[in-house]
Amino acid sequence: MDFVKFGIIGTGAVWGYHRLGAKNNPKIKFISAYDTNERNLNRAAKFSKLKTYSKLDDFFKSDIDAVLVMVPHYLHKDIVVAAAEAGKHVICEKPMATTLEECDDMITATKKAGIKFMIAENHRFLPAHQYIKDIIDRGLIGDVFFGRSYEGAFVTADQFLDPNKWNFTYDKGGGGVVADQGVHKFTFLNWLLGEVYSAQSWLGKAINSPPNKGEDTAIVLLRYRSGAMITVDISSLTIHPLTNRTELHGTKGTILEDHSWEKPVQIFSSHLDAEVKGEFYSPTIEHGPFPKYYKISMGYEDAYFAECILEDKTPEFTPEQAKQGVAIVLLSYLSAKKGDFATMDDLMKIYNTIGTRSILEGLDKVVKKNYEHIKWEL
Ligand SMILES: NC(=O)c1ccc[n+]([C@@H]2O[C@H](COP(=O)([O-])OP(=O)(O)OC[C@H]3O[C@@H](n4cnc5c(N)ncnc54)[C@H](O)[C@@H]3O)[C@@H](O)[C@H]2O)c1
Repeated sequence: MDFVKFGIIGTGAVWGYHRLGAKNNPKIKFISAYDTNERNLNRAAKFSKLKTYSKLDDFFKSDIDAVLVMVPHYLHKDIVVAAAEAGKHVICEKPMATTLEECDDMITATKKAGIKFMIAENHRFLPAHQYIKDIIDRGLIGDVFFGRSYEGAFVTADQFLDPNKWNFTYDKGGGGVVADQGVHKFTFLNWLLGEVYSAQSWLGKAINSPPNKGEDTAIVLLRYRSGAMITVDISSLTIHPLTNRTELHGTKGTILEDHSWEKPVQIFSSHLDAEVKGEFYSPTIEHGPFPKYYKISMGYEDAYFAECILEDKTPEFTPEQAKQGVAIVLLSYLSAKKGDFATMDDLMKIYNTIGTRSILEGLDKVVKKNYEHIKWEL
């Protein structure tokens, strides 16, 4: 097999980045599409010459090796399980799911089917993030004890204000920006720093969105088992082109990263092996401010997944790691409900008894409504 034949499920906003990222990649051919929204489906099909299906069963019977899933979060589990049962390899957009139990069902079904399964967490595939991972693994900034991270993914106001859009809803989105955007940071930071021990969070609404919508702005304080303390700030209302940022301080140096910069990483290191000593330096890394870094990272993630299929490799980014990202989302929500910090042990007690769906219930009551003194011009 020289290339992988992909079918896509969900032809909304994120498809455009995958399409551009995989363009000219000889190992990837997108050949068919399924979506319940005929308008989106036909537009994608026309633009990318895809064969369309109106029934999921027929789509799965078509001549495809793998499926790229890009649907609202509450559907990830059922669609991934169905794809696995149809014997297709699956790459599914983040966050993996809305509860830990859904993640388990996905892991069980994909393992049983013996197919390749990876969550499309593009932050694992950003060259800047891979560079930072290497710097940390080489010990160039020593042991990380402190840092902060920011995800500022501005979206149009209707995604918050329209109660009928699934985005940021408790039932279909699995929560607000912590679930939708925070998960990028949690997965990235876990990769660098290991497991989280506890979290404390503040959830806020800076815009007067309907009650079925979760927080638009949040601060999450994370304590890692390594002892590192990290603040994660998340908002989808901050007015600037989409970006993300991370600042990490270790016993031998500092990393500053911002995806709105042309050169996204600055390093200061006192390590003997540091490329430059005594001052910050900015390595040349494949990058471009939004939207370019999206295209780059999604291109690499899809290419890597295709390579795993073609070379029969197990994806390095495992579903169990993706599930940890969902665990930190739920831990943040649990902390907001407790009005105090929550530990992973607290989360595991819920997981082993009443189930993690219960964390999303009543969450709307603890979101701080901060919008009374804020004037938006929409
Ligand atoms: N990695 C990133 O940075 C990034 C960016 C944006 C979105 N995403 C993720 O991509 C996924 C999709 O987000 P989006 O922004 O494209 O959403 P969207 O609302 O723009 O598109 C979702 C599509 O799914 C379709 N759909 C809904 N129910 C369906 C069903 N039962 N079967 C088939 N299709 C169905 C809708 O009709 C729509 O076309 C989400 O998981 C989201 O978090 C990731």
